[in-house]
Amino acid sequence: MKVSYHGHSVIKVEHSGKTILFDPFISDNGNTDLKADQVKADVILLTHGHNDHVGDTFSIAKRNDSQIIAPYELATYLGNKGLNAHPMHIGGGHEFNFGHVKFTQAFHGSAYTEEDGTIVYTGMPTGILLTIDGKTIYHAGDTGLFSDMKMIGERHDIDLAFLPIGDNFTMGPEDAIVAAGWIQAKQVVPIHYNTFDLINQDGKGFADRVNPGKGLYMEPGDSVEL
Ligand code: NI
Ligand code: MN
Repeated sequence: MKVSYHGHSVIKVEHSGKTILFDPFISDNGNTDLKADQVKADVILLTHGHNDHVGDTFSIAKRNDSQIIAPYELATYLGNKGLNAHPMHIGGGHEFNFGHVKFTQAFHGSAYTEEDGTIVYTGMPTGILLTIDGKTIYHAGDTGLFSDMKMIGERHDIDLAFLPIGDNFTMGPEDAIVAAGWIQAKQVVPIHYNTFDLINQDGKGFADRVNPGKGLYMEPGDSVEL
């Protein structure tokens, strides 16, 4: 399978003709190589309701007839807006036709801000474990460091992990280094940084510091084969 990074928290997984997109924040993202009106998505996985994660979900899902998979409250909100959304929640896993999805906890907030400024709370934020053909990807979502990352690492054989390092809203690099050790992933990619001035960080420097040789620095548009 091909896994590519597209800036902020946008990850694309392509396997057996299916395209799975995580947190497609594209049109307001100055740090992505994707175009919201061209990207393909059979499936959209959402970690939480913040606008820099829901992003272009509405337009992409309508154009592609995508299946959205999200925490229950966010899935309900999107379903009420006419989208096809499968609700899940923390600790729950489900086998889909493209692979297995399991939601993990994350320590953060979750709310969607509508165009008129109304804030709609969308339940708990999450991380997502995606397993396809025996390979597991962990998208931590937005989160601070939490010690149950050790348990996530013990209970799942993670091949590729995406951890936020932007600081201010999520873990910064120092905490993300600790998280990388706890989740025991074979490779760790920094995400959720350099999109806005508040979260500017040195992604390459972070990847170099993750032990030993497990850090993987990806620029928007870079991909790896799993
Ligand atoms: Ni967030
Ligand atoms: Mn965010």
